[in-house]
Formats: sequence, C-alpha cells, structure tokens
Amino acid sequence: MSAAERQTEAREGGVAIRAEGLTVSYGPKIIQRDLNFSVRRGDVFVIMGGSGCGKSSLMRVLMGLLPPGAGRVLYGGEDFWAAASARRAEIMRRVGVLFQSGALWSSRTLAENVTLPLEYYTALPPRARRSIASLKLAQVGLAGFEDYYPSEISGGMKKRAGLARALALDPEIVFFDEPSAGLDPLSAAQLDELILELRDSMGMTVIMVTHELPSIFAVADDAVFLDAKLRTLTAQGSPRELLRRGPAEVARFLRRGKGAEDETTEDAGGDAPDGVRAKRAPGAAI
Ligand SMILES: Nc1ncnc2c1ncn2[C@@H]1O[C@H](COP(=O)(O)OP(=O)(O)O)[C@@H](O)[C@H]1O
Ligand SMILES: [Mg+2]
Repeated sequence: MSAAERQTEAREGGVAIRAEGLTVSYGPKIIQRDLNFSVRRGDVFVIMGGSGCGKSSLMRVLMGLLPPGAGRVLYGGEDFWAAASARRAEIMRRVGVLFQSGALWSSRTLAENVTLPLEYYTALPPRARRSIASLKLAQVGLAGFEDYYPSEISGGMKKRAGLARALALDPEIVFFDEPSAGLDPLSAAQLDELILELRDSMGMTVIMVTHELPSIFAVADDAVFLDAKLRTLTAQGSPRELLRRGPAEVARFLRRGKGAEDETTEDAGGDAPDGVRAKRAPGAAI
C-alpha cells in the first residue's frame, strides 16, 4: 500500500460507504441527483422517502448492480464504479444482500439456500459448507430447520432464512430492502431486534430501506430522506433528530400515524452528537 493509499485508508477508516455527487438514473430518466452522504461503519443506516422516490434504485447503485448516471460510490475510500470488474467483484464479496421477498429457491432446502453463496465464492468442501449453513441458521433462530423447504415455513422464518443466506460469507456490509414488508408487527419487531443483535455481535454496517415507522425508530442510527419531487436528498440525521429539527417534509413523514408521536415527548436527550444535517436543494423552498 502506498503512503497516499494509507492516508486515504486512515481518513476513511470510520466510513463504510460514501456517495459523492451521485446521480441515480435509468438511461436519460433521472431518479435522484447530486446525492452526497457517508455511511459510518457499524451504523444501521436507513434510506427513507415516499414510494417511487428511488430508494431501491439507490441501493442497486450502492450494491454494484446499477451503474450511476454521474458521481462516485466510495467503498473504504475506493471508487467502486471506476475499479476493474475483478476488483469490483472482490469488493462485493464483502457485501451481503437480503432482497425484499427473501428470494429463496423454493426447490432447495434452507441449508441448501444458505450454502449457495459458499458454493459460488469459496472452495469449501460440502461438509464445511453444511456446518456454516447450520451455524448461520442457528444465528437467526432457525436451528434444526436445515432440511425444511421454504414452502414449509412462515413468512417471518423465510425472511430470517434469507438473512442467514445474506450472512453466509460474513459480510462487512449488508443491504436490506424493506425486510419487514408483508410481516405482522410482532414478526417485524423480532426481525428488527435480530438485525440489531447481528450488527452488535458481528460488527456489520447495515444499510436498509424501510418505511415502517416503528422499524425506523427502533433500528436507525442515521438516515437520509430522498425527496420524490425534488429528486434529491433533503436531510440526513438520526430519526429522532430529524423528527425534532428536520425539514417539515421529513418531520411529516416521520410523524404520520401513531407511534411516532410518543417519540416527540420522550427522549429529548440529544442522542445524536452530530445532529441533523439538513440539505437544501438549489432553489428549493422546503
Ligand atoms: N429498471 C427500471 N427501468 C426504468 N425505470 C425504473 C426501473 N426500476 C425502477 N424504475 C423507476 O425508478 C423510480 C424509482 O423506483 P424505485 O427505486 O423502485 O423506488 P422506491 O424503491 O423508492 O419505491 C420509479 O419511477 C420507477 O418506475
Ligand atoms: Mg423499493
């Protein structure tokens, strides 16, 4: 490693991913523009915003599935999309993904689902892969369910099996797109707790999309709000800070329904030292 690279490494040490001037687009169709934010290592970082504003598309750019229209995605200071494809694959090897549906293979058992990434990325013999699958299933509360098929388990268990598969390669960063979609409130709360436990025990950075207010307040250390009309990021901060001091649009988003109202009365005790970084789009009245 060169001296310059070492300096960059030290500077970026606390940052897992940084977006710089990022535009998310499909051909000429711009979904979000000029996104600038950092995801701190070890944080649960939530991407918020109304339906269709581009949360999933931004995730695709961050996780290497959709090239950006402009700007950069830095992984530990390294420009991901400027890297050669072999290097990009190496970086993505440290990333786990749980897709919205859990996306398990229905013709494979849970253990076989969890071993898929191990078959693809490692030279481990089948017995070792099977042991890792059992371990990962146990970590998500599915010990003993190795030989079940997805159709034989509940929705919440499917999500947890998907989570076990996302964790198979011990990722440093995991992406979750609406992990609790379709779950009853109790299963959703259990999934939130599990995500926090795994973050604490494995030291992962978690980037997730969710619009469930209880989830947002339960898990997010930091969050960004993508505005659908302005097509850019209008605020970053912890949800509690954003609720108290964020732009009106964001506070409204966080206050819809019940539950969030309790949050305004309790917990006034500054849990976010760096506070809210409200961002104003050029010429926008927010
Ligand atoms: N593959 C695609 N090609 C073109 N447009 C797309 C594609 N996927 C999503 N979009 C559009 O991008 C916008 C944002 O979609 P999405 O990222 O799924 O939003 P969200 O996850 O916030 O609901 C929508 O207008 C959607 O129609
Ligand atoms: Mg989406």
